[in-house]
Amino acid sequence: MGIVNVPLGNRSYDIRIGTGLLARLGAECARLGLGTRCAVISDTNVAPRYGKTAQTALAKAAFAPTLITIPAGERAKSLKTVEACYNQLAAQRLERQSFVVALGGGVVGDLAGFVAATYLRGVAFVQVPTTLLAQVDSSVGGKVGLNLKAGKNLVGAFYQPRLVLCDLNTLTSLPMREFRAGLSEVIKYGIIYDATLFQRLERDLPKLLRREPRTLAAVVARCCEIKAEVVRQDETESGLRATLNFGHTIGHALEAISHYGRYLHGEAIAIGQVAAAKLSAQVLGLPAREVDRIESLFQRAGLPTQARLNTPQRQKLLAAMRLDKKVSGGEIKFVLAHRIGSVKFGQRVPSRLIEQTLNPQPSTPNP
Ligand SMILES: NC(=O)c1ccc[n+]([C@@H]2O[C@H](COP(=O)([O-])OP(=O)(O)OC[C@H]3O[C@@H](n4cnc5c(N)ncnc54)[C@H](O)[C@@H]3O)[C@@H](O)[C@H]2O)c1
Ligand SMILES: [Zn+2]
Repeated sequence: MGIVNVPLGNRSYDIRIGTGLLARLGAECARLGLGTRCAVISDTNVAPRYGKTAQTALAKAAFAPTLITIPAGERAKSLKTVEACYNQLAAQRLERQSFVVALGGGVVGDLAGFVAATYLRGVAFVQVPTTLLAQVDSSVGGKVGLNLKAGKNLVGAFYQPRLVLCDLNTLTSLPMREFRAGLSEVIKYGIIYDATLFQRLERDLPKLLRREPRTLAAVVARCCEIKAEVVRQDETESGLRATLNFGHTIGHALEAISHYGRYLHGEAIAIGQVAAAKLSAQVLGLPAREVDRIESLFQRAGLPTQARLNTPQRQKLLAAMRLDKKVSGGEIKFVLAHRIGSVKFGQRVPSRLIEQTLNPQPSTPNP
């Protein structure tokens, strides 16, 4: 089993990575000295597969678990679902010493984390991420929250879990498209922080796509280490943590203009990262060869690298980028790379350059 510590003083916690860890959930929670009653929050895809193993493991360690199942999908990340969860926690008489386990992907993690952060002004919280995206990204770092009609993740908190348990066996049932979408965040860590990881991904991609446990364990652990290090240095995103948004300015805007229907998050940010690499070449001198390596790794991972947009769609995309909550003072700032493994945040990019990058057709010479 791999262990990565997230060092945040008295809120420090471990991320445990390995196969078969779900069956050890109770034993791991017992080490934290948590109260007896607990709630496992999961969704309609994950609960039927893994809910029972989680409950049995908790009961074996003398906990009294109750299972709360929410609908699968992004729409469940709502105040309505939060209220339904509060009511069930109250009905089960969860008290201050009780705890909440998030068993599922990023949706369950964000929602259950928000519930834990606010129920009785905060109860302990354990993450058991079951998607690749959740294992390498959303379960680590303590951002929890939900969506409003006005936009995604507009309500939330920084609330760290007490433990993150990544059971790689749960990834075996993940649909291939979701797995590839998770790889998009994995590749991101290589670009923003670790050229050796990027090389390793170039070499081991076939094994990863087969979900070979040893390769997966090493890669998930490295991604968690990087996220932990970034969060240690900048928990509340006043600087460095912003580098995790590489490819996300364009990616989020693409998700928004397609009404979150066409692309999975990982797909949208694959397109966003390739565009950001091209902008990086122009603004920071990222070598053309490295742009090609980035584009080709996303392609080999089966991710989209370009959105075909007409002129009105491009205008919409630019408008959506200006609306992004990370924009301050109306200026779009990018995370850009000067080489693979090293990025700078807060880079200003002229709109003209963004448009050109999104519209890569060669200009027709005048007759
Ligand atoms: N808090 C953060 O720092 C952070 C970071 C990145 C993303 N997020 C959030 O995470 C969410 C996306 O997370 P996601 O991609 O995990 O989506 P998700 O939770 O919707 O999971 C994707 C799909 O896979 C299903 N699923 C999950 N685990 C499975 C398994 N083991 N086997 C079979 N099916 C399984 C789910 O039911 C769902 O249908 C978004 O809401 C995003 O805003 C949060
Ligand atoms: Zn992301």
